[in-house]
Amino acid sequence: MDQLEQLREALLAEVAGAADLTSLDGVRVSALGKKGRITAMMKGLGGMDPEARKSAGQAFNVLKDEVATALDAKKAVLEESEISARLASETLDVSLPVRPVTEGLLHPISQTIEEVVEIFAPMGFEVAEGPDIEDDFHNFTALNFPPDHPAREMHDTFFLPRQPGGTRHLLRTHTSPVQVRVMQDKKPPIRILAPGRTYRCDYDITHTPMFHQIEGLVIDKAIHMGHLKSCIIEFVKAYFELDELPTRFRPSYFPFTEPSAEVDIGCSRENGELKIGAGADWLEILGCGMVHPNVLSACGIDPDEYQGFAFGLGVERIAMLKYGIPDLRTFYDSDLRWLRHYGFAALDVPTLAGGLSQ
Ligand code: DAH
Repeated sequence: MDQLEQLREALLAEVAGAADLTSLDGVRVSALGKKGRITAMMKGLGGMDPEARKSAGQAFNVLKDEVATALDAKKAVLEESEISARLASETLDVSLPVRPVTEGLLHPISQTIEEVVEIFAPMGFEVAEGPDIEDDFHNFTALNFPPDHPAREMHDTFFLPRQPGGTRHLLRTHTSPVQVRVMQDKKPPIRILAPGRTYRCDYDITHTPMFHQIEGLVIDKAIHMGHLKSCIIEFVKAYFELDELPTRFRPSYFPFTEPSAEVDIGCSRENGELKIGAGADWLEILGCGMVHPNVLSACGIDPDEYQGFAFGLGVERIAMLKYGIPDLRTFYDSDLRWLRHYGFAALDVPTLAGGLSQ
């Protein structure tokens, strides 16, 4: 029993003397661990007679509990003092300057697409997408471009290498093939807006080989040119944030619409400065028309039952006009100084007047 008392005192002294959590854990292992001192002593119980073993066993259990309780209490004290020490040493200097936050900006192309989608969404238009790599059928044939028709040349197409069977894929030259895919996929009524990348082999101040278009398509019963006109007039006024904007529908030609029109908006060009909304000049803004019956038939829609209108606009072009960006090629230079100047904070989307959320 003396031995037990000595061990008790020694262990309680070690617990009390532990300076930190690591050495306290060392005491725990050396007392209660598999090869610990209490454990080793308890092994000696085997050789005792049953009476002595019983009382010694009880005494060992009391000692074990006492040491375990002391360990827990000391652990709580040490944890507490470690936290206090950290609180005392780790101070926060609120006068330090903040680290600069590198916040991304929205490219004017993304901003412009968002704005256009925001304008058409309340009119019931949904966003549709199609592949950048198209086939001849969706990009030309279904859109009523006759074989070898010069309109196919008009588009300066990038063709992919011919496949063994002779077919040739291409990078879509416009977003109009998305019209075809939507009409093949779903039944009217259809109201879609298809923004996306388009490709033509061209490069100068107003052309880049990759650019963006937004296609609109409406198919329903009894759709007529009046619907097309009001839809486009509402759009240009909302986009340019002008209550009054002279608009002109000028007859034009596209293989996939009949009749076809190009839309001009009023502007002035005084002293080399372009001003939208006033003046005696006109500025072309988009192409549109009533969907050609041949296109409806090619897409499995009966032209005697359904009609519709379509339009297509160049995203870079309308972005340049609204935000005064003079050279198209700078859109794709990946120059951060340019983006800091022309970019938009992500939460500003869309920034249109006329009741849209900021
Ligand atoms: N796809 C035409 C182009 O790239 C633009 C266009 C014009 C689309 C008239 C249309 C449309 O849907 O009706 O030049």
